[in-house]
Amino acid sequence: MAELLGGIYRIEGRIAKGFTARVYSAHRVDNPKRRYAIKTICLGQLDQHSLEVEVQILKTLPHPNLVRLYDVITIPDYTSLVLERMPGDVYDKTLSPQQQRQIVHEVAKGLGWLHRHGIIHRDVKPDNILWDERTGVVKLCDFGLAWWDKCETVRGLSYIVGTVEYLAPEVVRLGALALTASDAWSLGVVLYEMLTGATPFYHSWDVMIMDKILLGKYRPVVGGLGWLVDRLLVLEPKDRWTMEQVVSATQPLRRRVLRSGAARPARDVDANPGTAKKPNRSKESPEPAQK
Ligand SMILES: Nc1ncnc2c1ncn2[C@@H]1O[C@H](COP(=O)(O)OP(=O)(O)O)[C@@H](O)[C@H]1O
Ligand SMILES: [Mg+2]
Repeated sequence: MAELLGGIYRIEGRIAKGFTARVYSAHRVDNPKRRYAIKTICLGQLDQHSLEVEVQILKTLPHPNLVRLYDVITIPDYTSLVLERMPGDVYDKTLSPQQQRQIVHEVAKGLGWLHRHGIIHRDVKPDNILWDERTGVVKLCDFGLAWWDKCETVRGLSYIVGTVEYLAPEVVRLGALALTASDAWSLGVVLYEMLTGATPFYHSWDVMIMDKILLGKYRPVVGGLGWLVDRLLVLEPKDRWTMEQVVSATQPLRRRVLRSGAARPARDVDANPGTAKKPNRSKESPEPAQK
């Protein structure tokens, strides 16, 4: 990887090595204060169609909860997407109950936007959820496996793509189609993992994980957002909550107005002090604050 990309961006170092891509931090040569993440894909590793879909989504459907695309630079054998730089993803992060709630809320907004435009992300997992702990900004990334009805010419919906622990039962079932509700299931798995530190369907063999997903039985999460897990990890796709329902049920907690007129945040009833690493032991099980 050249240190200078397109004569415009200076590469500073590697952020991550994903499944198909390497992601570097970079700044503009003419303005070192402007920092970017450069996702570089070796074209031999990914079919051209996947790259086109990813670029088309980011170019034509910008949204506050999708990572922003600034530029696409192609040099022989490599294509680089110049993206806004986020501090990192939520994989293995310690999250407070408020942060868990906010992350689910923001991801659901991003997914809802995609779903309304006929797009299924198909790879919702912690590595693909970017998060700025300081500002609370949450953005989805990695549209390399996304399916868009408008673009689809080569790949069908009827073969399995994604990361096995996060696959929905209808995707695991051979010949079945991925649906927008399949992203809702994956979000349920992510939420479960944030609450307990482990995915709900786990085994060292992929085929056993798939069997468990098809059965749909998981150890319930008591307290915190456990109630929301139960609305997303539902075997029948049409009975799963949509992203609109998730967004409305996870609105930021209402602010309590004090007698003096000053407002202060309401006590967080999501009494799950757990982290991504420490399983939730909370007893409280609040109902969603529906709007
Ligand atoms: N804009 C970004 N800012 C910061 N980190 C990023 C950004 N985009 C991706 N990453 C990091 O790079 C990893 C791999 O990028 P991703 O787009 O998911 O590629 P892959 O298809 O290889 O999984 C992500 O899991 C995330 O940790
Ligand atoms: Mg990824």
